[in-house]
Amino acid sequence: MDRVTVEQHVAASAQPLLAEVFAAIGTAAREIGRKIRLAGLSDVLGAAGATNVQGEQQQKLDVFANDVMMAELGKLGSVAALVSEEDDDAVLTSHPAGEWIVIFDPLDGSSNIDVNVNVGTIFSIQRVAPGGDVHAAMLQPGTAQIAAGYVVYGPSCMMVISLGAGVDAFTLDDSGDFLLGTAAMHMPTQGPYYSTNEANASTWPAAYREYLQWLLDGKLNGKTYSSRYIGSLVADFHRTLLKGGVFLYPPTDKAPAGKLRLLYEANPLGMLAEQAGGAAVFGAGRILEIEPSKIHQRTPLIVGSKAEVDALQKMVAEAN
Ligand code: AHG
Ligand code: MN
Ligand code: MN
Repeated sequence: MDRVTVEQHVAASAQPLLAEVFAAIGTAAREIGRKIRLAGLSDVLGAAGATNVQGEQQQKLDVFANDVMMAELGKLGSVAALVSEEDDDAVLTSHPAGEWIVIFDPLDGSSNIDVNVNVGTIFSIQRVAPGGDVHAAMLQPGTAQIAAGYVVYGPSCMMVISLGAGVDAFTLDDSGDFLLGTAAMHMPTQGPYYSTNEANASTWPAAYREYLQWLLDGKLNGKTYSSRYIGSLVADFHRTLLKGGVFLYPPTDKAPAGKLRLLYEANPLGMLAEQAGGAAVFGAGRILEIEPSKIHQRTPLIVGSKAEVDALQKMVAEAN
């Protein structure tokens, strides 16, 4: 495959003005990836001592990743505002005329940082019309996203993106460029895996338990399944995108509205799933059609191959 960087790919796309945003995300990802690789040799592991707006213990690497994303994206004249999982409120940059709002989870999978398991960065890009209200623009539904993507820090560092015309994957090479490795990715129509935290199953709504048993009884096209759950959404999603199957984080007693966040987890991954031929629902309806009311609102998330997700959506809709 020719040597195409993510910046070149975006510059040649229908959204060329986003090239500098993806360059900034790439710079941030290189810095975050380096910090993660050397975490064992520095004091950057463990809790930072504060709790974030999510009510969760902030890890030092959460704070580091957030600071880096804020610094690299905040420099751009084209970025009017930044929304982060780690900041209570949206951050307005010194460029109010900027066209983009970048919404991100700077480090996803925090519980896995200290045990050297894949973690990631997830991002969503919304447009603010000239003279438009930036706060209204950050609460647009997922269908309005101009672009979305994630970086997964694993045995290789990969950036997987969509600009609304399919999904493409870029791998960080030794020269520091994210190079196009796989173009036009397609999620298998039905997969071998289901991915969920089964410790919560007893507190799911009954329809979700019935669905999972139905799936494991081979009732969906006679297919049998294996279980894979890493506990980092980006890694569980990346495997689902490549191999197929379904990831589920249903409502639980502890999180009746769902645990995962709409703006910077469910919406970007929902866009990627649909662009790759898969699907993403909150239960009876499509993730991307949710009208957000708050920047940190949570949602149930069932995302993956169309066969499994469509079957779940039907079962939950019939149970409601
Ligand atoms: P974050 O580290 O950004 O807070 O996200 C953690 C999320 C997500 O990565 C993962 O799918 C989920 O938490 C795991 O939750 P459980 O530990 O409840 O299974
Ligand atoms: Mn997360
Ligand atoms: Mn996070």
